[in-house]
Amino acid sequence: MKTRLYRAAIAGTGSFLPSGRLTNDDLAKMVDTSDEWIFPRTGIRSRHIAGKGENTSDMAAAAGRRALESAGVRPEDVQLAVVATISPDSPLPACSCLVQTKIGLANATCFDISAACSGFIYALDVARQFVETGAVETALVIGAEKMSAITDWTDRTTCILFGDGAGAVVLRRAEEEAGGGVLSCATGTDGSLAPLLFIEAGGSALPTSVETLEAHRGFVKMDGHTIFKHAVRNMANIAGKAIAEAGLKPSDIDWIVPHQANIRIIQAVAKSLDTPMEKVVSTIESTGNTTAASIPVALDLAVADGRIKAGDNVLFVAFGAGLTWGASVVRWGS
Ligand code: ACO
Repeated sequence: MKTRLYRAAIAGTGSFLPSGRLTNDDLAKMVDTSDEWIFPRTGIRSRHIAGKGENTSDMAAAAGRRALESAGVRPEDVQLAVVATISPDSPLPACSCLVQTKIGLANATCFDISAACSGFIYALDVARQFVETGAVETALVIGAEKMSAITDWTDRTTCILFGDGAGAVVLRRAEEEAGGGVLSCATGTDGSLAPLLFIEAGGSALPTSVETLEAHRGFVKMDGHTIFKHAVRNMANIAGKAIAEAGLKPSDIDWIVPHQANIRIIQAVAKSLDTPMEKVVSTIESTGNTTAASIPVALDLAVADGRIKAGDNVLFVAFGAGLTWGASVVRWGS
């Protein structure tokens, strides 16, 4: 049985995209590819790339600061900070600990979540339960990635897809009767499909060595074709589950903010929910796939430009390595 004492409302959003850009034409000078191949298959024209010394924790802190400002929350009032990332600055400590110091979250408990492209929804699901049970009043949820650091820039089947960035939301305790807040979260995992999308080396099973470096075994490898099919099916299913758990129908959803992996995946998911693309927020053309950052970055843009308004029902839906998937329905507050 699910019980909640409070509702977790999204009180503020923020994002950060590094100024460095890499276009499809730039990529065509690095590997055997072209804008004509990349754009029709993915919807991507360019991506943001962090500079040397511009780390995941820096981008996460920048997005987190902006979210706190937009919520009118002081850093010291945050009691929980969860960072979703698969590209932390280093294996130890957690990226969230570095973010704590950079923002000044002196009173927050901080930890990371590793669920690849579903990471933001997993982190949102965990943090909202801290808020709903009354354990904390204010939480900061961040998705941040420097995918450029774990991408094989000689592999044309993956390097065309990824970009860097960070996005964040502030969750605040609200009364159950309050209009806005997280209405539902649904998540799923199938670890038997892990070999479809993985990084082989750099962990305890295969520590980094001269051999792993020379063989490029420390970068993302993917069976894109098979992932594509799993993505569409699982995103459609989990979105339906989250919408039903929110007590809504697909036609009640005002905006879909999906993970930005491939415009064709996004179109297929929208179609399965009978939702026109006009109701879908997409940044993929200029961001590529920023993994855990993609949903909060897209959300922040759509809030900032006035598309998402008070009273709107917003669906987040994602899919990624693991395999993992998740969806959440949020009613936007005033
Ligand atoms: N430029 C030119 N040709 C290419 C490129 C490229 N960048 N990449 C692959 N090709 C070639 C292949 O070699 C292949 O050639 P062949 O037929 O001679 O063997 C041909 O193009 C077709 O390759 P496919 O891999 O079948 O192409 P597909 O249409 O499936 O598109 C893509 C590939 C865009 C990667 C797609 O499969 C996709 O988007 N998959 C999902 C990716 C995803 O969502 N990942 C999950 C998130 S990532 C995370 O969680 C970290």
